[in-house]
Amino acid sequence: MSNEKESHSDALVFFGATGDLAYKKIFPALQSLIRRGRLDVPIVGVAKSGWTRDQLIERARDSLNAAGDFDEAAFAKLVSQLRYVDGDYADAQTFAQVRTHLGGAQRPLHYLAIPPSMFPTVVEQLAKSGNATNARVVVEKPFGRDLETAKKLNQTLHGVFPESSIFRIDHYLGKEAVQNILYFRFANAFLEPILNRHYVENVQITMAESFGVKGRGKFYDETGVIRDVVQNHLLQIVSYLAMEAPSSTYAEAIRDEQAKVLRTIRPLDVENLVRGQFNGYRGEPGVKPDSYIGTYAALRLWVDSWRWQGVPFYVRAGKSLAKTVTEVMIEFNNPPQVVFKEAAPSMGNYIRFRVSPNVVIALGARAKEYGDRMVGKPIELSIVEEPEQGHGGRMEAYERLLGDAMAGDATLFARQDVVEAAWAIVDPILHGPSPLHAYEPGTWGPKEADRLVESVGGWNTPT
Ligand code: BG6
Repeated sequence: MSNEKESHSDALVFFGATGDLAYKKIFPALQSLIRRGRLDVPIVGVAKSGWTRDQLIERARDSLNAAGDFDEAAFAKLVSQLRYVDGDYADAQTFAQVRTHLGGAQRPLHYLAIPPSMFPTVVEQLAKSGNATNARVVVEKPFGRDLETAKKLNQTLHGVFPESSIFRIDHYLGKEAVQNILYFRFANAFLEPILNRHYVENVQITMAESFGVKGRGKFYDETGVIRDVVQNHLLQIVSYLAMEAPSSTYAEAIRDEQAKVLRTIRPLDVENLVRGQFNGYRGEPGVKPDSYIGTYAALRLWVDSWRWQGVPFYVRAGKSLAKTVTEVMIEFNNPPQVVFKEAAPSMGNYIRFRVSPNVVIALGARAKEYGDRMVGKPIELSIVEEPEQGHGGRMEAYERLLGDAMAGDATLFARQDVVEAAWAIVDPILHGPSPLHAYEPGTWGPKEADRLVESVGGWNTPT
């Protein structure tokens, strides 16, 4: 997306090579990049597992088989490029070995697929060993636990890497459908005059998942829905929907606008929040029996900008809900009912972006019903409808993001000021008490959330 001419990284080092993230996402992304001829550099896996290189290769094979995407030729190439260093992250020797494996590479990319608690050690060792010179670093969310810890984490990274060399992965930004929100908004003339407080009644973003915490009970119970998906994925979507036009597709131009609009959103209070927890959550392995963590949250956000003042932006997300779907609905004010004198439609004009499981862009309108009366019915003009690619879109997102990071294109990565602006919105409610309502798995969450949307006729329930 960027016009920036950056030099390409000439090696890829990934820490946490024997871990879960590497297994689920990194190996499939590496194989796809190699298949497309986009990754022809040394790849060095690092971990402390007492493994050999052969064991890592078997792990990679398993990962690709599990992903249903084993490609003999691309895998053989991956193996030929793959090195492995087994060693402690605190041991200088580990990093000396990495250096050796990098050979003549001058601009490596280091992917920290490890818990943030290990970042300081690894970052320090990278610097001491000379591996950080001209290097890029890729980190995964969570970018801290709140505003303060996000800043601390950042200090650790900035101690060694300049902001332009730090690539923070929020895999939602790598999704085609999310990029299309940005594209569709600024590539169509008809939208600009109506996407503002004069025409839009409300905006709703729903990220529903029909499954629970899938064995990640311990992680989830320390995280909760707001830190897991709202502060990052969903606020990134809000920023794409609400931001002003960037001056170009230059990475900094887009991220400047994201940061600006996020800073205009009022910090959240309990009045604008409903939290829920599904019945049965407390019995999940790794979850505290008296856990007060939310597995559901509904938020009403106020974007205090010239464009959006007074238009509620609703965001809701949850586990164990009625279905798995992520959808954005921009609902317009109803036209005056003075010509046809029908009852005001509950859903009149709208734009719908479905992000997953399929990708849809649609316009909601009304048209005359066949017959002798001037009576209408809702119709939908579906503009784009495509299956979400591959494995829930995440594989492509990782491939895309890793490829972009290697190329130095930061557009689809979270910049620190954007991350901090998003934390600032949710920070007050992370630290203060807020009620928690129980809900049954397989429903749309606690009934109490309806109070937030009373004035706009209820939630958009994706069908
Ligand atoms: C992750 C969260 O970041 O995103 C998970 O940790 C969530 O809890 C996942 O399920 C959703 O991603 P996707 O791409 O499947 O919508």
